[in-house]
Amino acid sequence: MKKIISRIAVLALFASILQPGIAFALPNKAGNGSAFDKKITERFDSDRAMEHISHLSENIGPRVAGTEQELEAAEYIQEELQNYGYETKTEEFGIADRLEGELTTSLNNEELAIRVATGSASTKGEDFTGKIVNSGIGLPGDFSKDVEGNIALIERGEMSFWEKTENAMNAGAAGVIIYDNTEDLVPVTPSLGDNEASIPVVAITMEDGQKLKEEMANEEVNATLNIAEISDQQSQNVIAVKEPKGKPTNDDDIVYVTAHYDSVPYSPGASDNASGTSVALELARILQPFPTDKEVRFVFFGAEEIGLVGSQQYVSGLSAQDVENSLAAFNMDMVGTGWDQATALYVNVMDGSPNTVWQAAEAAGERLGNDSLKLYERGASDHVSFYEAGIDAANFILRDPETASLEPWYHTPLDTIDKISQERIQTNGELIGAAVYDTVRQDVPRGKPKNTPNSNTDDYLLNEDPAPVQ
Ligand code: BES
Ligand code: ZN
Repeated sequence: MKKIISRIAVLALFASILQPGIAFALPNKAGNGSAFDKKITERFDSDRAMEHISHLSENIGPRVAGTEQELEAAEYIQEELQNYGYETKTEEFGIADRLEGELTTSLNNEELAIRVATGSASTKGEDFTGKIVNSGIGLPGDFSKDVEGNIALIERGEMSFWEKTENAMNAGAAGVIIYDNTEDLVPVTPSLGDNEASIPVVAITMEDGQKLKEEMANEEVNATLNIAEISDQQSQNVIAVKEPKGKPTNDDDIVYVTAHYDSVPYSPGASDNASGTSVALELARILQPFPTDKEVRFVFFGAEEIGLVGSQQYVSGLSAQDVENSLAAFNMDMVGTGWDQATALYVNVMDGSPNTVWQAAEAAGERLGNDSLKLYERGASDHVSFYEAGIDAANFILRDPETASLEPWYHTPLDTIDKISQERIQTNGELIGAAVYDTVRQDVPRGKPKNTPNSNTDDYLLNEDPAPVQ
């Protein structure tokens, strides 16, 4: 008996060494779910997902819309999809001009992290140097004569960015630096509304602002500002289509599996959204060899963080027929945070009411014994673009079940892979994968077996396991 047990233990150890992706003692691996769920849950490999997150967030890093890094990420996604056997398409589009700049101070010649105000003037790419002058919170009385031709340092708060800017312009300032009044790790993007400033306006963090103020009490501190307009930039969506089995098909439905791969400035975007990208890639890999009744489109969006631009571009390019045939859009955005409070997988839908995506997810949750799902009314990701076109869509995102808070390092430089939970990537990948597969595998209403022999389970799945895809 003892011998047998130890033999089993050795075999189990070997199995786990040979198949690192399923070495976890994760709930769904215990055998929950229908036969068709297991096609997904047994294949979803969070080791591979973690490699994608590592490549995107560590090797590439921040992937801001329009930058080389965003393009590099798109190329990586495209190559991966091709390795899985897909033909891919890249959809390029122009993005709005934006201002970008550098701010260096005479304090150790340090370059500070900045955000340039929308509506700011540029220095036309040329250096402007001036003395930094403490100008309080930017009330008219806060400006000394000294500020004329120099740079006003103003604390955020109490009035709008535009009011501060207008007062600085009236006082003759040549530029404005606004420092934050909260402890955020990255500067805010100051909005001037629809106003245009005649001088450059940038924001820095509270920490940097306080450091400057301390130093200015001892000595004169100068700043060199260089703001340039970046124009004619491109972003891109990457698309791989899985055709339905056999043609002609009597099922014209289209199902989308989507994620954005760009990030905000200064953030490696491991959670937001290398996590969703990695799950979408892994689902593309494991679904590839399985025949499905419906067409599945894997769409990876660029330029989400600057206003859902990639998904709007994609959806606006769909034909009326495609829109009509579109059954459901699954969007994954932040599905792997390791933040201990984010234990619920929110299913965000625009109008808060159950739709096809929610129903598929809820049913998958029941089959897999996963009760972490929460239906919620929220936009703010690429599901909005599908919703606006009349397509059932939902966004999957991990949040605190009570407060709906996101991880505290959201949109900061601390959104790194060490704070991703591989276990949650596995669990959520399995759940969303099972929901997607259930939606696309056969043309019957969910949960209701078709009235034909063998049709309620795996009737058209391959008899043998498909060859593993690299
Ligand atoms: N990853 C977030 C997703 C998100 C979804 C955040 C739901 C909060 C709630 C996404 O990348 C994001 O940052 N969205 C922006 C809005 C978007 C229109 C630029 C946001 O919420 O600030
Ligand atoms: Zn974001």
